[in-house]
Amino acid sequence: MVAWLMLALLLHKAPQTTARATVKVTGVVGRAVSLGVDVPPGFQVRDAIWRYLAPTEELVATYFRGSAETLYQSRFYGRSQLHGNLTLEISPVELGDSGTFSALLVNTRGQTETRVLHLAVYEVVSRLTLQVFTSESSRSGSARVCEVFLTCVATGGTKVSYSWGRTDGEMLSMDKHSLFEAGLVLWAKLDPSDRQVSYTCTAANAVSRESATIAPWEHCQREAGSEDAVYDYRNILLIALPLSVLVLAVAVFGLLLSWKRSGKQRTKPLFDASEPDAASV
Ligand SMILES: *[C@@H]1O[C@H](CO)[C@@H](O)[C@H](O)[C@H]1NC(C)=O
Repeated sequence: MVAWLMLALLLHKAPQTTARATVKVTGVVGRAVSLGVDVPPGFQVRDAIWRYLAPTEELVATYFRGSAETLYQSRFYGRSQLHGNLTLEISPVELGDSGTFSALLVNTRGQTETRVLHLAVYEVVSRLTLQVFTSESSRSGSARVCEVFLTCVATGGTKVSYSWGRTDGEMLSMDKHSLFEAGLVLWAKLDPSDRQVSYTCTAANAVSRESATIAPWEHCQREAGSEDAVYDYRNILLIALPLSVLVLAVAVFGLLLSWKRSGKQRTKPLFDASEPDAASV
């Protein structure tokens, strides 16, 4: 009881706290993530308190005189473990776990140390699809110049960024290339000297990277009628527009969910492991 009162005081007013720079930790959806603290030499830890600070404040784990406790009503209930070295392990980690943690350490003389960590959780990039769209005139067979739109979409993965390169190592010159939709779409003007050129799309985030390569020229001079593999460039609207709508819908849905969840959190002890993601492409 006395210890609890002491700690309640410490949580609000830590007189000898030494704050340090925030440590950044990266997690991958579905895997384990370890949040470690460095204890200064000679600092004999007696108690420790792990809290989740933002977006909502919750008590996650405590360590009092040699025994660890993680059964608090937090979003990490049932997924957290506090090791003897004060490392907090969360497994499996979810997208919504991204946020700020703090560890308050108390030594045998009552002095405190605070560690702040920021966890960013990502979903691995997967299911990359590369497509070529050519214009009607480019397919007439006589064209000396061919305009193509290449689209690159990873349906799995969060905070994905796209980049393009040519396999011949040349830079993408501005007069013959343009990027749209934050790199999802590349426009290129090809001439017969680009016959052999392939383009590589790389989709990457902080935890993974996927690439795909395509040779667009062979899509340029097809006979009209072989519609199976070649699309009219206007069809790009059929991809770009629904995609933008989808991204927006997912973002709105995610916002609604997190809003709903923050309302429920205080009364619900156990969390559904299959929480939908507030993902954005
Ligand atoms: C802490 O202990 C856990 C479990 O024994 C171990 O996996 C982890 O690597 C340790 N971390 C540090 C920083 O020593």
